[in-house]
Amino acid sequence: MEEARGAQVFSQKCAKCHHPTNTHPLNGPGLQAITKVKTMPSGTPPTDERMTYVILHGRNMMPATQLSDDQLSDLLAYLHTL
Ligand code: HEC
Repeated sequence: MEEARGAQVFSQKCAKCHHPTNTHPLNGPGLQAITKVKTMPSGTPPTDERMTYVILHGRNMMPATQLSDDQLSDLLAYLHTL
């Protein structure tokens, strides 16, 4: 299941800064329902393209994360379940 693999990627690469099950800030904003909101905290719609860009390049205090194409697509599938 790509969602389950994506959850592992999340716990390794994202969980220290983002809660997956609420919207309270940790180091970064909580990501509950992040793909269902109209706009993310930056004011940008949560398209896969935009999330991919932020993940791979970082944004302000968020560091860039290096992921393989498989890890990235698994992670995006997981983010859609939040
Ligand atoms: C070291 C802490 C840190 C890590 C690791 C991190 N983030 Fe972030 N993230 C942040 C911070 C801080 C922000 C707020 C950036 C801003 O808009 O100023 C953020 C913002 C975001 C946003 C919202 C972007 C927007 O446009 O508003 C998303 C989505 C996101 N992160 C996803 C992830 C994912 C997925 C991972 C794992 C690959 C990850 N982050 C790893 C700190 C982190």
